Amino acid sequence: MNRNEIIARLMENDSTVLSFPDRGPWGDPKYRGNCSGWYQAFLIWKYKVKKFAELFAGSGTGFDVAKDMGVGYVGADLNPTPVRPGILCVNAVTDEVPIQFTDADFLFMHPPYGAEIRIPYAGSMYPDPSGELSKCDLGQMPWETFMKTLNGIVMKYFASLQSGARMGILMGDVRRNGLHSMLTDIVKPGGLEQVLIKMQHNTCSGGRSYSSKNFVPIVHEYILVLKKIAPYILDFQIPLKKKLDIRDSRSATWRDVVFAVLKKLGRASSLSNIYKEVEGYAKALSNPHWKDKVRQVLQMYPDFVSESRGIWSLAA
Ligand SMILES: C[S@@+](CC[C@H](N)C(=O)[O-])C[C@H]1O[C@@H](n2cnc3c(N)ncnc32)[C@H](O)[C@@H]1O
Repeated sequence: MNRNEIIARLMENDSTVLSFPDRGPWGDPKYRGNCSGWYQAFLIWKYKVKKFAELFAGSGTGFDVAKDMGVGYVGADLNPTPVRPGILCVNAVTDEVPIQFTDADFLFMHPPYGAEIRIPYAGSMYPDPSGELSKCDLGQMPWETFMKTLNGIVMKYFASLQSGARMGILMGDVRRNGLHSMLTDIVKPGGLEQVLIKMQHNTCSGGRSYSSKNFVPIVHEYILVLKKIAPYILDFQIPLKKKLDIRDSRSATWRDVVFAVLKKLGRASSLSNIYKEVEGYAKALSNPHWKDKVRQVLQMYPDFVSESRGIWSLAA
């Protein structure tokens, strides 16, 4: 496709919500998890890219787009038989960043979305007779392992960029056994320059109607654009998942703690049983008069009902 034709089409879509119903003439629509080439074209155009590097190059969509846009290209994928001449066979988990990547001014990634989405690559889109490639295929890793591995790869490739260069990551949400969101779980190195919404077309969920009222079909993906600012400093944001017992929380009020205790006990309970549930936890240790406090909230809030002297339950 001609560069001017491509740009004319991109200019009609110049906003943070990108919507291209056709995938364009690039790459291979039969390659599972392939993306439309309009998004790579948009990034090349918008950021005036001179050399486009692409990790997880898949069916060659990025290679084909870079060629039509007239910019340099280097790609990498786990596939031992690369589908285009500019794509290297690289295992992003174990191998170093190829030297050909380091002078790119834009590094694009469209990783697999973990095992939950059920699109394996090694042994499925290309042969893996020994099973060795499958062990490092991000499309076959359960979510927690997948995100941890991907975050390591993102940091490794970000470190290899020159200052001023950008990284663009195309990612999505997966609903299986709950919602998994790459946007919330991914590491974000450097300066966050843009979050683009990519509308998805022809999705399975888009055409269905759902009886469950709180089920919202997913019809978008995201592209994060990150910029490397300084040569030495690798600043990054990484989500931290923690669990805290409410009885050890500084921010929970005494009302919240007593409510949680009665909910857990599940029946009318004596003051001594309520005390036992709280004793020894940080909330009690931080207040020498904590028993008085427990009695005070029981009397103060309408959530609590006195069944008889010293016996308390939750209001119906
Ligand atoms: C979502 S697909 C990319 C599709 C591509 N954007 C296209 O349009 O064809 C993800 C790619 O990541 C590759 N991949 C999975 N694990 C990898 C690894 N450890 N190192 C390098 N590539 C890997 C897969 O082989 C697959 O081609």
